[in-house]
Amino acid sequence: MALRSPLEAIRKFHDDLTLLRRDLHAHPELGFEEVRTSGIVAKALELLGVEVHRGIGKTGVVGVIRGRRCDSGRMVGLRADMDALPMSEDNAFDHRSSRPGLMHGCGHDGHTAILLGVARYLAKTRNFDGTAVLIFQPAEEGLGGARAMIEDGLFEIFPCNEIYALHNWPALPAGKVGINPGPMMAASDRFEIVIEGRGGHGAHPYLTIDPIVAAGQIITATQSIVARNVNPLDSAVVSICSVQAGNPGAMSVIPREARLVGTVRTFRRTVQEMIENRLRELSSSIAAAFGATATLTYERIYPATINTPREANFVADVASAILGKENVIRDLTPSMGAEDFSLMLQGRPGAYFRLGQGGAESGCILHSSSYDFNDSVIPIGAGILAAIVERSMPVVD
Ligand code: NI
Repeated sequence: MALRSPLEAIRKFHDDLTLLRRDLHAHPELGFEEVRTSGIVAKALELLGVEVHRGIGKTGVVGVIRGRRCDSGRMVGLRADMDALPMSEDNAFDHRSSRPGLMHGCGHDGHTAILLGVARYLAKTRNFDGTAVLIFQPAEEGLGGARAMIEDGLFEIFPCNEIYALHNWPALPAGKVGINPGPMMAASDRFEIVIEGRGGHGAHPYLTIDPIVAAGQIITATQSIVARNVNPLDSAVVSICSVQAGNPGAMSVIPREARLVGTVRTFRRTVQEMIENRLRELSSSIAAAFGATATLTYERIYPATINTPREANFVADVASAILGKENVIRDLTPSMGAEDFSLMLQGRPGAYFRLGQGGAESGCILHSSSYDFNDSVIPIGAGILAAIVERSMPVVD
């Protein structure tokens, strides 16, 4: 019964959280520009009597809730991301984006509403022995808001013993949760290969060093890395997603330069390093064979999101107690997508789980212009996070 209580208590203010979520949806803000959103978060926390810290990671907000006892000295961190995407929304409902070119296309509006639901419940009940640290993070979408918060001393100011986060997941039905005790999401890297040749007249290619022909060979060769160099029992992706050279209006000008941009996704550091090395070897030696040069720039954006087994099993146990074990997938297949909660998990034990919300079958998928967060799962997400705090730091009378 004790475990059911957060969910049932939070359901009582489900309507308030839905209104709040839709208001956030209608007013999306990009990473590190979440001025309105973080203001709403801070004000809501203050009204609940929660200690508020602002300016950690620029627009980040941290709420600190002390349990009715703090004898354990323990601290549990819960993280929600707040940022939207630079994309246009195609929905027609009343709470659609009011800002052209901006959209909550990944449901971070829902994550923010969920964590405010947790705050409202925990601030009232305080039924735990320790400190709950509610981390409202900016700029998850590629800008590294987690890194900014960590660099501003997040875990020195709030030395959490464990950290947890969730992400809505349209491919899982509402009412289900998915997790696994290891890799959840891949490392995400960006690479750029610049091939330099010698430009000239398209009618006299023998007087040029054509970077486009060299680029073509490099594109094909890089597809051999996963097929021929990565152990088939490991997972990896090499995708070239942008090819730029020459001018479509100049059919007879061989350009001097070609540029390839792509992404590498891996779970293991050794595989990541090997792929970077192969990209460099293949591009420079193929370019050299054509008399050109190739320069690789390789950036590690986010590391792999890897749960620690104890905390992942703990989340699965808590979720099973709330939703029934038939609704908790404990060996969810990892995704080649990426998540910057990974940076927090590099410093602290913890777990990241997927909150089913359904909709994928009808095209409501993450980063789609017709996406919307499913408000019906707000209490489920909040109930699980609140129960994590209560069960991780139980009051022993
Ligand atoms: Ni997201």
